[in-house]
Amino acid sequence: MKLLVATEKPFAKVAVDGIREVAEKAGYELALLEKYTDKKQLLDAIADADAVIIRSDIIDAEVLDAAKKLRIVVRAGAGYDNIDLAAATAHNVVAMNTPGQNSNAVAELALGLMVMAVRNMYNGTSGTELKGKKLGIHAFGNVGRNVARIAQGFGMDIYAYDAYCPDEAMIAAGVKPVHSAEELYATCDVVSLHIPATDETKNSINAALVGRMPKGGLLVNTARKEVINEDEIIDLMQSRTDLKYVADVMPAADAKFRTLFADRYFATPKKMGAQTAEANINAGIAAAKQIVDFFTTGNTRFQVNK
Ligand code: 3PG
Repeated sequence: MKLLVATEKPFAKVAVDGIREVAEKAGYELALLEKYTDKKQLLDAIADADAVIIRSDIIDAEVLDAAKKLRIVVRAGAGYDNIDLAAATAHNVVAMNTPGQNSNAVAELALGLMVMAVRNMYNGTSGTELKGKKLGIHAFGNVGRNVARIAQGFGMDIYAYDAYCPDEAMIAAGVKPVHSAEELYATCDVVSLHIPATDETKNSINAALVGRMPKGGLLVNTARKEVINEDEIIDLMQSRTDLKYVADVMPAADAKFRTLFADRYFATPKKMGAQTAEANINAGIAAAKQIVDFFTTGNTRFQVNK
């Protein structure tokens, strides 16, 4: 049995050691493909793999065609928009994620980006505080819940919108539910995005929505760049010179954002929300264990292409 770890953005070494331990205990051979620069390297490495652990690595029909023995792909993380689920199903490959395993890391970064933005990107000038400000959490899943928990420590007044989450769950977490995205943006000084990238959500964060934010509004994106309608947000930020945008997922139009909004825009050079030793260990080892469990007991609990 060959388990491939294919990570263009590698896990911390300690996480790879943990994955190796799980694999070796199960009698699997572990292969590592890290920091690859060419899809061909992935096509070659996956050719004889029975299972693969990935991060944001793209698993499309071409990769699945090359993976002659593959039975399971586990995305060590939450979002699985990088896997062609229909193609996986057509190739009889089970696709899973590891929900919740890296969410604290992403949430901590979201708060870090908020502090950076309200302190004027740490440029030494007088900024504002998060305490007492209204925070809107757009989607109350694993990351959103962690953001709420940490923001409570900052003394923020917390709201959330999530069409799929009951009000009671938000109220139990000390969060005020609102019932539309429009209401969330109109209410909150800071909005933190935690929606997945789907056909429904791509380009959905547009001027009509963000334009509802009160004066001095801050949009924080640690989700996916595809959910932002970049052209509209650029136009909006040109007319609303009070708005700020900070992102852990560099926009396609990063250069334009940087040129136009030098003091109220920031993006990390590479998505790093889940890039901590702890998140790598949690998600990487969970992925390895899910694979072993799948092969030994047939457990498909976290399958996303059912
Ligand atoms: C996720 O969906 O789990 C996060 O966006 C982290 O992605 P990464 O593994 O590429 O850092």
